[in-house]
Amino acid sequence: MPALVPRPTEATFRPGHFTLDADTSLHIGEGAEQAAELLRTLLAPATGLALRPSPDGRFTLALDPGLGDLGEEGYALAVDPNAVLLRAAHPTGLLRGIQTIRQLLPTQALSGLPQSGIRWLLPCADITDVPRHPWRGAMLDVARHFQPVSYLRRYVDVLALHKISVFHLHLTDDQGWRMPVAAYPKLTEVGGHRAESQIGPAGSDAYDGVPHGGSYTRAELADLVRYAAARGVTVMPEIEMPGHVRAALAAYPRLGNHPEHTLDVWTRWGVCDTVLGVHDEVLDFCRTVLDEVMDVFPSPYIHLGGEECPTTEWTQSAAARGRAAAEGLANPEALHGWFLGQIGDFLVRRGRRPVGWAETGAELPLDFTVMTWRDSAHTLTAARRGHPVVSAYHRATYLDYAQSDDPHEPPAQPGGVVDLHSVHGHDPVPEEADAESAGRVLGTQAQLWTEFVTTPAHIEYLTYPRLCALADRGWSGAADWADFRSRLGEHTARLDALGVRHHP
Ligand code: ACM
Repeated sequence: MPALVPRPTEATFRPGHFTLDADTSLHIGEGAEQAAELLRTLLAPATGLALRPSPDGRFTLALDPGLGDLGEEGYALAVDPNAVLLRAAHPTGLLRGIQTIRQLLPTQALSGLPQSGIRWLLPCADITDVPRHPWRGAMLDVARHFQPVSYLRRYVDVLALHKISVFHLHLTDDQGWRMPVAAYPKLTEVGGHRAESQIGPAGSDAYDGVPHGGSYTRAELADLVRYAAARGVTVMPEIEMPGHVRAALAAYPRLGNHPEHTLDVWTRWGVCDTVLGVHDEVLDFCRTVLDEVMDVFPSPYIHLGGEECPTTEWTQSAAARGRAAAEGLANPEALHGWFLGQIGDFLVRRGRRPVGWAETGAELPLDFTVMTWRDSAHTLTAARRGHPVVSAYHRATYLDYAQSDDPHEPPAQPGGVVDLHSVHGHDPVPEEADAESAGRVLGTQAQLWTEFVTTPAHIEYLTYPRLCALADRGWSGAADWADFRSRLGEHTARLDALGVRHHP
């Protein structure tokens, strides 16, 4: 029985095979066109199969409203010697099923090069598959180190293989601003480049002397959104505020608390003291930026960052203290929640859902979806408060930590090891949660911060196989480590066929 990752909810395998060959045609039901296109696109390079549409096709892809119990992403797959039937209630379910079909075929089907002499056999099976959690995410930080959009498409390909639902794109930070905004061209012209980068962890005084920069075009990002959607992956953009904005302040000092200061795009790592001002022009800036972000990214969720925002500048600024008083706030520190509340309301009025990183789980406005990262207990705090929550607990989901204590591991975030077992062992739903709080946990997400990660090869080394573990646990819910380990052995051959440069 083939070792699928993530593990399907129910799978029964029977003797026999369905053979895909030059004569195999697809019977494509209404609404299944996108899934058929994806199947062809994914299988063509290795198999050369045309998979033409035909009303007599024995390989059927169909939407079936009667399968509503399977939700947005669930699917049912039946393979017999004479027929394949993939059904789902929603198009996304069909896309998930396509990835299962891909894994059921011989591993060579995943290669990007033509394969000869392989019989493309699908084992006879009945599979019914529904994810435990809708949010199975992966965050990539392209602010600390830029990656071209060609690599982001490749990154999405491998997410989709693992049925990851959300690609969280961390587009802005102190060290770089990567998305163009027509009304503020200097965000990328100035904010997209830094003079050099710190070598070593926060606190080090060594620099590499190498300029680093890059930004996407609007067309590239829009194309990435379409590419990911065709694979059932939603791209959620993140625009950090009111902290982690040094690159924006280097471009437009008037958005800060010291308009007379010239700032560089930050070359250090760590938490930067410079934050946005709280005057009206700043709120207008954020709304203008987010209007353009919403034009490019249809994602229902828009991430506003929100974490690690020192309030020293506000405490010292007469203007900020004046704003706090005018808004009836107890102190300048309260401007943090006020600021995010203003911008969160703006997103809600536009029909989107604001997302923020939690510091405690109890500090963000109530209409925020919360990503808990510092402490696993914050998930329960936030859920009890009524927030939808995604667990991004750093000890289980931060892929910038080394995956072993081997001294030969490449440079990583200091302070710990996040091994494969910790990732698979993490249940995003806290044990103590009652049914109502548990129901607010949307799922889990892996984070790759890239202070120390400059190349695609290093990204893949840190991401795989740990993301396989997160995808498996997030989809199946099952904590069976031994079972996962045994499936991973076979799955690793798939990563190899795709050319993923994973950790051994
Ligand atoms: C974070 O690690 N800055 C959320």
